[in-house]
Amino acid sequence: MSPEAARLLLDWYAANRRILPWREDPTPYHVWLSEIMLQQTRVEAVKNYYRRFLETLPDIPALAAAPEEVYLKLWEGLGYYSRVRNLHRAAEKVMADYGGELPHTASALKQLPGIGDYTAAAIASIAYGEPVPAVDGNLLRVYARLALYRDNIKDRKAFLAAHSFYGDAIPAGEAGAFNQALMDLGAMVCLPNAAPRCDVCPLRDHCGAHREGAERSLPVMPEKKERRVVERTVFLIRSGSRTAIQKRPDRGLLAGMYEFPGAEKKLSREEAAAWLKKNGVPALRIRELPFAKHVFTHREWHMTGYEVLVGSADEDRVPYIMAENSEITEQYSVPSAFAAYMKELTV
Ligand code: ADE
Repeated sequence: MSPEAARLLLDWYAANRRILPWREDPTPYHVWLSEIMLQQTRVEAVKNYYRRFLETLPDIPALAAAPEEVYLKLWEGLGYYSRVRNLHRAAEKVMADYGGELPHTASALKQLPGIGDYTAAAIASIAYGEPVPAVDGNLLRVYARLALYRDNIKDRKAFLAAHSFYGDAIPAGEAGAFNQALMDLGAMVCLPNAAPRCDVCPLRDHCGAHREGAERSLPVMPEKKERRVVERTVFLIRSGSRTAIQKRPDRGLLAGMYEFPGAEKKLSREEAAAWLKKNGVPALRIRELPFAKHVFTHREWHMTGYEVLVGSADEDRVPYIMAENSEITEQYSVPSAFAAYMKELTV
């Protein structure tokens, strides 16, 4: 990228940048938290989570000392929960090894759990001014268009090419603004698919794809893998104002979060009754609930639901946690995958 293009980009950013909560007071902790939340998650969805998280856990010592149920609850609904587990582990490490202060360089930051190439560079440049490019999917797309890069954008080779293309162009003392300018350009102007807004782009005259009329066909993506469909059955086992929940295993998808019990396949009403009997649930009445679907990155859950009533005299025999519905909605972390069934608790 030429020095003239970098200057046009920074001037455009000064006039057009988005006002975002983590840009108001970019302490290393604020930048770190925002970058972790923004992984795989849209800016609009992150804003309120970001504010709420900081109200409860305002600094690294508070995060390091927080119990699991507190930080998981603050993350509920954001998805990709390993992010907050790694955030917490990293905070403990920062307290133990760095006296509570985040390391200042991308290469030291990368040693912490949950911080990869992109996030390390984003924190080091925005919070500490280190001149390293923060190459994420947006910057790769912008790179492919500017530099007319026609190979598979998901290859490591593309990342390295983008890294040196941008790295050589960062104006002295402006690394944070430079990276965020590219993020904003990617989010507001150099949009994916067939939607780039070249008419308002400050880099139009420096763009290979625009010159060749190729902006809509770049970047070149590998073919998408199909998501796996997983059939499940979810039971809302209820007695009075309480419903059965259980903790998921500590490893794997949605690790350590709470869920309604169920089976990893679709059960008919008769099969559901047999399943309940076999698992020791003294069901009084079974009612089918609406079908629900939840889409993860690599899989889809197709859920069949049943409400199961248990008599108050039998409640003690239910082999799960019988929690008050208000505790389930307010205290336990239940992933959004169960949102359709969570709704039943408040009607
Ligand atoms: N996406 C990821 N990090 C961001 C940031 N700092 N500003 C805007 N969008 C982002």
